[in-house]
Amino acid sequence: MTMTRRELYVLCREKLERAGIDTADFDVMCIFQDMLNEKNPMFQPLEEVPEDIRGKITDLTERRSQGYPLQYLLGRWEFFGYPFNVGEGVLIPRPETELLVENIIEICRREKLTSPRIVDLCSGSGCIAVTLKKELPSAEVWAYEISPQALSYLKGNASLNDADINIKERDVMLGGNEDIPEDGFDIIVSNPPYLTSEEMSQLQTEVSHEPELALYGGEDGLDAYRAITDIWKHHLRKNGWLCYEYGDGQHDYVKDILIDNDFRNITLSRDLAGIYRAVSAQRTEEV
Ligand SMILES: C[S@@+](CC[C@H](N)C(=O)[O-])C[C@H]1O[C@@H](n2cnc3c(N)ncnc32)[C@H](O)[C@@H]1O
Repeated sequence: MTMTRRELYVLCREKLERAGIDTADFDVMCIFQDMLNEKNPMFQPLEEVPEDIRGKITDLTERRSQGYPLQYLLGRWEFFGYPFNVGEGVLIPRPETELLVENIIEICRREKLTSPRIVDLCSGSGCIAVTLKKELPSAEVWAYEISPQALSYLKGNASLNDADINIKERDVMLGGNEDIPEDGFDIIVSNPPYLTSEEMSQLQTEVSHEPELALYGGEDGLDAYRAITDIWKHHLRKNGWLCYEYGDGQHDYVKDILIDNDFRNITLSRDLAGIYRAVSAQRTEEV
């Protein structure tokens, strides 16, 4: 039996719609683009789909209909216009995290930091560290991550993007000076795990495929902010900046943690949905 692109597209879209996937059209288009290796596969709707490719498309659509993340199925996702390999064991880069990167680029511009030393804690896929190195080529960028699976994606993504960064395996919630430059960092950035116990018990099917280590931030979701702020303030240069992403509704708690640790010039920023999502704060005292 032969099948045209249009016929197969409609079948796949209907399957995802029946499964309650509200981005059915977008998801099927991504699968078609990937499998047919064309930017606009539906410009030729009457083209016959070769049997082996049809099998693959049907397979991916089936897995997607069961709630498996589209990004893991494709194996690659874009962040800030750069490609990142993703798969089980690593958090999928989220569009709202681009705000954190934008904030840091703005701090460097405003403070005239021409060759800042920046560290990304809990680096995961490396989307923040790699993007910063690409956008600020004179910066010296470091990235720390605890998960071996994520580390392997991080290293792969640095080389995929030709970004020369220092990648280290480390539990950033423990003290110690090993593998940390003695004269500190100008900017410390982190998008740590921040979901609460309650949020972990109500995960969307797609998110439940992502690693718990990347999601769970302790009972109130704030464990990483308390630990990182307390430990890493000692690795900030005078007038250096600490920049975090946090979850919806956590802004006041994160701000309090920063105030308790003597940070100043605390700025909260909202993502495109209007939700407070990121903070930057300055350490004006020598620690
Ligand atoms: C929310 S994900 C963020 C990943 C990436 N920075 C991003 O924005 O997409 C948090 C990351 O922190 C890592 N992580 C969790 N606990 C850690 C720890 N104690 N030390 C270092 N990394 C940790 C997880 O493995 C995960 O990759």
